[in-house]
Amino acid sequence: MPDGMTVDYSGLIPNNIDLNADARVRKALETWHPGYIDWWKAMGPEGFQSNLVYLRTAVGVDPAGWAKFGFVKMPDYKWGILLAPAVEGRTIPFGAHKGELAWQEVPGEYRAMLRRLLVIQGDTEPASVEQQRHLGATAPSLYDMRNLFQVNVEEGRHLWAMVYLLQKYFGRDGREEAEELLRRRSGDADSPRMLGAFNEVTPDWLSFFMFTTFTDRDGKMQLAALAQSGFDPLSRTCRFMLTEEAHHMFVGETGVGRIIERTCQAMREAGIEDPHDVDAVRALGVIDLPMIQRKINLHASLTLDLFGNEISTNAANAFNSGLKGRYREDKLTDDHRLAGDTYPVLRPRDGVIVSEDLAALSSLNMRLRDDFVADASGGVGRWNRIMEKAGVAFRLHLPHVAFNRRIGEFASIHADPEGTVLDAAMWEHRRSAFLPSAEDGAFIQGLMRPVHETGGFASWIAPPKAGIDGKPGDFEYVRLHDS
Ligand SMILES: [Fe+2]
Ligand SMILES: [Fe+2]
Repeated sequence: MPDGMTVDYSGLIPNNIDLNADARVRKALETWHPGYIDWWKAMGPEGFQSNLVYLRTAVGVDPAGWAKFGFVKMPDYKWGILLAPAVEGRTIPFGAHKGELAWQEVPGEYRAMLRRLLVIQGDTEPASVEQQRHLGATAPSLYDMRNLFQVNVEEGRHLWAMVYLLQKYFGRDGREEAEELLRRRSGDADSPRMLGAFNEVTPDWLSFFMFTTFTDRDGKMQLAALAQSGFDPLSRTCRFMLTEEAHHMFVGETGVGRIIERTCQAMREAGIEDPHDVDAVRALGVIDLPMIQRKINLHASLTLDLFGNEISTNAANAFNSGLKGRYREDKLTDDHRLAGDTYPVLRPRDGVIVSEDLAALSSLNMRLRDDFVADASGGVGRWNRIMEKAGVAFRLHLPHVAFNRRIGEFASIHADPEGTVLDAAMWEHRRSAFLPSAEDGAFIQGLMRPVHETGGFASWIAPPKAGIDGKPGDFEYVRLHDS
């Protein structure tokens, strides 16, 4: 009998949910599997599919030792269904049902809402793989290439996680949704992915590191809110996904950090003191710091849109019904029901941005967005310390939440990254100072040349402090020659 801690690898689909005892769901997943592999080969990483990559695979859900590392060809990766261990007697931690036993089956009245939450989360997972599929060809090192592919296979597994829930608990509707998740395509004119940021391009490695810093962090916040769910299978699924997600943000934050480190080092060696002397910095084959700020402005603002409207009845309903909690709900000390409570919401009024106390239940998207900003600020602070240590007079910051928004309260106004409201003419005039230009993109593209020697790194990025799984600096993370 599976103990829920170790993963059964004997069948086609590794799992810790005793899939062998559930013939209906096993058949549904096995029927879905070939379409998934077709999708992976068509829309997953371009090239490198027959190379051995040093990847981690989940072999258990014990936080102390859940993964093993080894060489595997990506299409042979063991994508499985893994749920964090059940908590005996777990109760619903928030909303109108607070204190009742957590649901093991979908409550009928919340079926449509829950299905929608699963589909939206599920859709982001394959989308990011599609967005990143061209990046293998320009990897700045084998270490980075391996990290890209690790993120990609785990996003693939996250799709499996949501598909399992759809197929197990939503019958025919769930099977149809699972097919649709393989049919939509990032950026496709007719059949795009569901959320805006997941239809943008990820054309270069700076974009990839920004995406994993910011957009994967939205994933973390959403998963953390769903991990509180009163629907216990969703809670357990998301809790395990969060262990994998941490690595994605590590890849992003350290990636940007290594770019900053390399730029500072090159500036110092060349005796360049002014970070705004962009031509001189770029002539060194490194990425200037003002461009990094523009990339932050772009990726942070695109990601803020993923939190949806600040004021949202859907968010209130999802909380009230016990399906989606707040970030770290279990650490909060209020009544976990929020009826009658207020929350400060930023909104534009007569040309300035003001804070208004609105119903806390309706403001849950705003609150999760605030939690995201606080979490992301920590990463920006760590980037700033790299420059501080190097003696470079430049500091990065997150743009104001009103900057460059397409969704919510600020979609109807223009604001600069400091949050000053601008008229349309001024916005157009100054936009290229705020956001990456075509010229920025062309410069970055010019740097994107692959480095395939073991232990080698492109001119514009410093080596990492430590290897993956304790491996030495010259470890061959991707075997390009023998497959
Ligand atoms: Fe994910
Ligand atoms: Fe992720």
